[in-house]
This record gives sequence, structure tokens and C-alpha cells, in this order.
Amino acid sequence: MPGNLRPSLGVCYYPEQWPEEKWEGDFGEMHDTGIRFVRIGEFAWSRMEPSPGDYQLDWLKRVLDLANANGLSIVLGTPSATPPKWLVEQMPDMLPVDADGRQRKFGSRRHYCFSHSGYRKECARIIQKLAEEFGTHPAIAAWQTDNEYGCHDTVLSYSNAALIAFRVWLRQKYGTVEALNKRWGNAFWSLEYRDFDEVELPNLTVTEPNPSHQLDFRRFSSEQVSAFNHLQVEIIRRYSPGRPILHNFMGGSLDFDHFSLARDLDVASWDSYPLGFLSRLRVLPLHKTRYLRAGDPDFCAFHHDLYRGCGRGRWWIMEQQPGPVNWAQYNPAPHPGMVRLWSHEAFAHGAEIVSYFRWRQALFAQEQMHGGLNRPDGTPDAGLSEVRQLARELEQLPAIELEQASVALVFDYQAAWTLQIQPHTDEYDYLEVVLSCYRALRRIGLNVDVISQGSSLSGYRLIVIPSLPILDPAFVQRLRDFDGEVLVAPRTGSKTEDFQIPSNLPPGLLQKLIPLKVWRVESLPSFAPERLTWKSSGYEVGLWFEHVETAIEPFIALPSGEGIAFRSGGYTYMAALPNQDLLDAIVTDLADKAGVESIQLPEGVRTRSNGELQFFFNYNPEPATLHLPAGTEFLLGSREMPVAGVTVVRRRTA
Ligand code: GAL
Repeated sequence: MPGNLRPSLGVCYYPEQWPEEKWEGDFGEMHDTGIRFVRIGEFAWSRMEPSPGDYQLDWLKRVLDLANANGLSIVLGTPSATPPKWLVEQMPDMLPVDADGRQRKFGSRRHYCFSHSGYRKECARIIQKLAEEFGTHPAIAAWQTDNEYGCHDTVLSYSNAALIAFRVWLRQKYGTVEALNKRWGNAFWSLEYRDFDEVELPNLTVTEPNPSHQLDFRRFSSEQVSAFNHLQVEIIRRYSPGRPILHNFMGGSLDFDHFSLARDLDVASWDSYPLGFLSRLRVLPLHKTRYLRAGDPDFCAFHHDLYRGCGRGRWWIMEQQPGPVNWAQYNPAPHPGMVRLWSHEAFAHGAEIVSYFRWRQALFAQEQMHGGLNRPDGTPDAGLSEVRQLARELEQLPAIELEQASVALVFDYQAAWTLQIQPHTDEYDYLEVVLSCYRALRRIGLNVDVISQGSSLSGYRLIVIPSLPILDPAFVQRLRDFDGEVLVAPRTGSKTEDFQIPSNLPPGLLQKLIPLKVWRVESLPSFAPERLTWKSSGYEVGLWFEHVETAIEPFIALPSGEGIAFRSGGYTYMAALPNQDLLDAIVTDLADKAGVESIQLPEGVRTRSNGELQFFFNYNPEPATLHLPAGTEFLLGSREMPVAGVTVVRRRTA
């Protein structure tokens, strides 16, 4: 983890979309606003190379020179998310194919299949050209690979290129087709193959394809994204040594393993659109109404913590929502002050840079209805004055000292794929289960690190494991050695590596830690929850039930006596999916047992602490009051938080 952080501001800019006469003025204004980093280039291939081999890079050089002269650093995006038309004409089979077998067309973006070797070569060529040309230009501070891998549902492609590459991948993994047949369980429904070349992609089957087949295709597809990225990283490192390489991951995206891909990067970044994301969450309409102009109080913070984990401590916001977006089901404007709040919160979670999307609203094309820091006519939009204010405040606040959290939440992309492939109920959503665990921790003011199964557990006192069907034996060993509290949500250990039920029954390997067996599972609709009482309060559990055989007495049970929560040593196993209130109560109890100090926060207020600083954020559509002791030193804001208020205090030392 980096030591003291001095946050910086950035912005996304598209010089190719504006007359050249505007560039210098724009750069000057950016600098005056307090912005120091500008991301450019990620969609500009047709301007960099209007026809095959005809490189037109002078304009880009002028942009870099101008930025440099105006005290701005550039993050240069590789243009691989938008191959130009001439390239698609040259190799039409580079286009991705959707699950219905339809080739996706040119005319927007991300129209390529990760497995197409010809396209990979073309990317390598243009990136090498850019890196040779500009790799050591003084304005270049960092590189961004591609743009939002996986956006618009593009990780899984059912193209011929993918089919050929998948067969090679399977051959390498299994060695013999007999091994594949056995591990996939192909004795079922006469699915046995005689050769790897008989295996097809798992789409367009009459009913669901074999889940082992599907999971391997998900793993393969995820590795294809990493390999595609790796190719870019290798070239950039060769020609632009010492400049950090990053990628802008997309919020709520689970189709490839971000932890794995990020191992190749120096910094992880993500694109934060709090209002758009809230509209997509499966939460009650009441929640959506309440936080309509603020965003869900936990969604972005979760991603901040996730990408801090992916980036091994180093992360940025590459695109921050500045006003209404254009792509959600509905697109409200943020409450005045929220752009400032979101930015402060990102810095409180350790972001090195918050960069806004975009400098000026576009006059034309697909995103003309997406707000920017400036209006389409160049006059300031509401977000700009908030950024100016933020820049002044950042100057005054002490540097942030990042520290390890005492709680770790285990996040796993393969868990998402496994639960998507076999959900058992339409309503079981991995990300929602994760978010409800995260929410329970945030509501009591805890700092959380989001970690992978491969991470070290040392230094933590409480580990929370939302559903984790496939357990890595090394992770289970680390859990055995761990001295603290562990909360395990249902469906953990419910599948083997090959997507089979463990022969000793779920939770499989976890039985070494907590002696119980899940002998039956059932899913219920959310309109028919079971009710129970724990510590004199009433709760509901629903969606997911596990029937358990064990000698352990449950500490929470249904009125029928059937147990839904069991403890053995420091391990707590949930055999049902609790509602938020019950999860909150269990987490609070475990934090207490783990000796982690929780605090009471007003509803809709969140906090994050770093060294001597403690930040508070008011997501509510009304003011809130913080209950802080007399004599508290306020560095920003006060006890009385307005809507979108941010308060920063110096923490009391015990
Ligand atoms: C992101 C994308 C940007 C822009 C933005 C609009 O997903 O990276 O290029 O489209 O959304 O909100």
C-alpha cells in the first residue's frame, strides 16, 4: 500500500471531437480548475490511422505538446476498443458473435472478438506505433489499455475464432478427451466426445448446456481478456518504461476476473457512475427513490475497495459521473454537492486520482445527452464549480495515510459465474449478496478491504465470505490458520473445481473448519420468506435454505427448530440467506466478538477512516446530525451535515 497520498484531479478529453483552436483554451481552463491529468485517445483509431498504414499522429503530438506547455499530464488510451471500418472490412471475422449466433456489427464500439489472432496483431501494430512515437514524451504520465473490457456484453463471443481457441485451451487443460468427459460428467445425456475437435461452444443448445462446459468457457473467455491485455502491456512497457499502465474497469462487471487481469497492471482504475448504477440495482423502489440523486450509499465504496485490492493498493477513478448520464433506464441529475462528495469519498478510500467524464458535453453522436463538466457551448455546468471547490479543499486537507482494514470481504469472479450458470432461483444474484454483506459492515462504520481467495489473511480480525461455491484448498488452509472471526454465507463449498457436488456434500472442504453437512437445498420466492426471532427481534430469511446435518446446536433457528446459523470456534456458517436486518445484526455481533469497534451512524450516512482522519458522507435527501464527542476537531464541515455534506474530523487517539 502506498504511504501518504496527495490526491490529484483529472478529466477525459476528446480533442478529435473539437476544433483545434479550442484545445489550448481548454487546457488552460482545466489547469485553472485544478485538473492535472487528462485522458485522451482511447477511441481515436480512425484519426490515428485513417487508412491502412497511413499513420496521422501529428495532431496527437500537438495535443501532447500543448498539454505539456499547460502543466498537464496525459494518460494515453490505446484505441483497441474502436477498430476502424477499414480494418473490419479487411477481416470481417474479427467481429464478435453473440449467444444467439448473430455477428455483431460495426457502428458503435467494442466490435471485436478477444480470440481473433488477426485482430490481436493489428492492435499490437498500432500500439507499438503509438508507444514508439510517444512513449517517452514528457507529457505522458500513464497509459490506459483499451476501454472498459467487457462493456456492452463483449467478453463472451461465440465466434469461430473463439471456438478454435477454446478447443486448444481444453486440450491443454485436460490432456485427453477421456479426462474431459469424466470431469464434465459427460456420461449424462450421452454428451461424451471422441475428440477435442468435437467440442462446441456452449450456446444454441436445446436446453441448458452442461454447467462444467459453461464454466470452462467462462474461464477461457476471462483468460482471453487477460491475454489480450497482456499483449498491450508488454509493448507499452518496452517503449515507455516507468510509466504506469492501467485499465478502466467497469462497475458491476463480473464477466472476467479483474484480480487476474490487474496483476499485469501498475494501477487499477474504475469508472464510477453512481446514479446510473443505482437505477440498475435490484433494490426496492423506495431505496431508488430515496437515493435517486445521490446513488446507493455503498455501491461505489465497494468498488473503491475492490479496485484498491485489484491494484494492490494503487487505484484511480478514471471516469467520474459529473451530471446526468445518458445510458441508464432514467437519468436524473446529481443532487448539488454530490460530485464533490463522490470525489472526496474516493480519495478517502485511497484513490490517487479522480478523473471526470468528460470535460465538455458532446454536440453530436451517441453521447450527446451525457453531461460533462462544461455544457456543449463551453459554459460551465454544475459539476465544474464543485470540482473547483474540491480542488481548494484538497489543498487544505492533510495527506491521507492508507491503512489495512480490520475486516476483509472475499470477492470471487468464479463464484459469480458459477451462481449465474446454476442460480436455482432467478432471484439469487451474487453481486447483491456481496453488496448486502458489504452494506452490513459499512452501516456500522467499518473499513473493509475487498480481497480474493489468493490474498493473505494476516492482519485481519474478521473475514466475511459471501457465497463462494468453489473453494481453493490453499484458501481453506489459510482460514484454518486464521485467528479471528469468519462469517460464511450459504452455497460456499457447494461445488468442486469441475462444477460437481462435493462427494462429502457441501460445504465440501469447509467441513474441516465447521463440522456440518448440507443434505438438501431449496430456493423460495422472495414473496414467501420464513420468519424468525433472534435476541428478541423479528427477522426474515428467504430465497435460499439449506438443510443441515450436524451435532452443533444452531444459534439462530426457525420457529420449527430448524437451524439456519451455526458456530464452531471462530467460524459462523449461515445455512440461509438472511435479509439485510438479520445480516446487520449478525455482522455487528461478530465484529464485537472479533474486537473490531463499530460505531452508530445515522441512516444514510457513511464513514471511512485513514490514520488520523475520519470522513463522513451524507447520502440522504435530507440533512443529518453526527453524534461526535465535544471537542472534536473539524477539518471540513461540521456535526450538522447538509444534503450531500462531507465532514472530516481528526480522530481521537485512545
Ligand atoms: C463509460 C465509457 C465511456 C462513456 C461513459 C458514459 O462506460 O467508458 O466511454 O461511454 O461510459 O457514461
